[in-house]
Amino acid sequence: MEDRMRQFRFGADYYPEHWPRERWEQDARMMREMGLQVVRMAEFAWHKMEPEEGRFDFAWLDEAIEILGKQGIFTMLGTPTAAPPAWLIEKEPSILPVDSQGQRKGFGGRHHDCQSNESYRKHVRRIVTAMAEHYKGNPYVFAWQIDNELGNSHGDLCMCESCRRAFHGWLERKYKTIERLNEEWGTVFWSQTYDRFEQIPAPRQTPTVHNPSLLLDWKRFCSDLVIDFSHEQVKILREICPHQRITHNLMGFYDKTDYFSYGEELDFASNDQYPYGYYFEAPGQPSYEVAGCMDFIRSVKHQNFWMMEMQAGPTGGGVIGQAPRPGQLKLWTVQSIAHGADTILYFRWRTCLFGTEQFWHGILPHNGVPGRRYRELKQAIEQMTPVLEDISGVYTRGQAAFLFSYDQDWAIQIQPQHPELSYVEEIQKYYQAFYSHNVSVEFIREEDSFEAYPVLVAPLQYLMRPELEDKFLSYVSGGGILVLTMRTGVKNWNNVCMADRPLPGRLSEAVGAVIEDYDGLIWKDVKLSYKGTEGTARKWADILSLTTAKPLAVYESEFYKGQPAVSVNAYGKGKVYYLGTEPEQKILELFVGDLLEEAGISGYGQTPEGVELVMRKGQKADYLFALNHTEEACKIEEPEGFRSEKSGEIGPYGVRVYRKEHGSGHGGQTVV
Ligand code: GAL
Ligand code: ZN
Repeated sequence: MEDRMRQFRFGADYYPEHWPRERWEQDARMMREMGLQVVRMAEFAWHKMEPEEGRFDFAWLDEAIEILGKQGIFTMLGTPTAAPPAWLIEKEPSILPVDSQGQRKGFGGRHHDCQSNESYRKHVRRIVTAMAEHYKGNPYVFAWQIDNELGNSHGDLCMCESCRRAFHGWLERKYKTIERLNEEWGTVFWSQTYDRFEQIPAPRQTPTVHNPSLLLDWKRFCSDLVIDFSHEQVKILREICPHQRITHNLMGFYDKTDYFSYGEELDFASNDQYPYGYYFEAPGQPSYEVAGCMDFIRSVKHQNFWMMEMQAGPTGGGVIGQAPRPGQLKLWTVQSIAHGADTILYFRWRTCLFGTEQFWHGILPHNGVPGRRYRELKQAIEQMTPVLEDISGVYTRGQAAFLFSYDQDWAIQIQPQHPELSYVEEIQKYYQAFYSHNVSVEFIREEDSFEAYPVLVAPLQYLMRPELEDKFLSYVSGGGILVLTMRTGVKNWNNVCMADRPLPGRLSEAVGAVIEDYDGLIWKDVKLSYKGTEGTARKWADILSLTTAKPLAVYESEFYKGQPAVSVNAYGKGKVYYLGTEPEQKILELFVGDLLEEAGISGYGQTPEGVELVMRKGQKADYLFALNHTEEACKIEEPEGFRSEKSGEIGPYGVRVYRKEHGSGHGGQTVV
């Protein structure tokens, strides 16, 4: 099965329970004709599989799996734990989650579950065990998806009594004694000192604001709880069906769960991507943001990933988004392949006639008749299959590293410093600057080795600990080029400010500067000039006092006019760049251009705005994907050594795939 899995390229999220039995054969045939080899099914079908407690009915699903299997289409099953049925909630109403106002949520959507609730866990074990036992030997079932988008639809996650008690256990394991917790959290402030763990609240709404240390531990606890909830299911599946693989549909930079930790127990990572967005903000997600999400998911295990849900039509609920433009579905498909997807499933096969998502469009429209979307994707599949055959399973690492930390993300969410400062958005701004130079990025975490990368970008290292400082210092001493920013080294890992030396703490020597003063740019932007180019600095201004560093940018207004905003310092064999502010994008791109030159990294080529170039290695050749995300045709220079059959303009939302044969200086056969 493992080998077979490697041959799966395309598929769809399929819900046979939404369609009459008579339609299934036709669907399966049409899928095969389109070039699909896999479906994901059943992730919301708890009631269909267990209409009443203990009475399981898998006959309908067996039949669907068999019909699809006969057409050469294999099945991934979802465990249905994102949708506990009404009979279960009626029996155990405590499963319903409680929000930060202390209100219990009602039955009716999905994810109406508390993940620490022991009675829920018992039922979860039952349904997962029953499914596993039933499908362990099914020749068509090759893998499992745990739950669905864990952490999604939860808002604050659950703040019920059961979760609060689980939080106590988590805190006790971390701090051992209540005295230690009081000390670490600084509960002497506002008389919040606790005598026992049992007194500690879940962060429900209070008249003012909770202790930031409590809030950070709560976020860590919630992330661990999600992983633990999933882990119970993983354990059962591993035991009963050791030959079937396990994944989960992650959601890019979604923040409720530390995906690096979660990824450790998955066989492969999967992603859900809706480039037009969930909330219909025009004009959807910019292409660099989509690219960043996919690079991130690829980096979760530093392995190629599956696209578990790829937008296949207009998205919508009560309001309907715009139709993907001709070419865009293919463009998104190729973009995901370019960023490391080996298999792509489209959400969903056919647009549902009923329920909350009746306007969230699939490949087929409501009437089930293949149209523009089916034809476009069928053609994309035909063209991309030979490329995938060569690149599938071959990993292409990013050229530069970005440090990604959930702890930093959460701590900045708790106290953003500036109303618009967000860790993920800051990461995305830097990512965008790399993207504009067509340089690829690998995301790494603190535990990873930094040494493999010539450049490490680490924005907002707001929480700091000695181990991390050591790693930064030895990376730079050894020749690495490190980029640090404002708000580095402000707090310890328990979210408490540090006072033993001026910012940025022990890293000052490597930065070659100290921050004597700073300004929150809450009411206005500040002017700055970077090597003679005028621009704007936003959100925050560290006023640098240089010791050994050289200034690269200075502020041009305010009481710190003329003082450094950006600096560079040689330290050991390497260099540290420090940006004390958020320069506007144009300046950031100039800065990154200089940085890349210094590091000897060259991008895959120059392209007009909105056109990206990404490379993936294959067994026989390298492939360069040119992706035009704009509605205008564009022209790019043929990249050196690469060939494509077509030349001239790339059409609106068009793609071109160039190939360079290994071992030969020039291109081989044609691609797209
Ligand atoms: C995803 C989810 C799917 C479906 C889709 C469209 O978030 O996993 O089940 O809801 O969005 O809304
Ligand atoms: Zn709960």
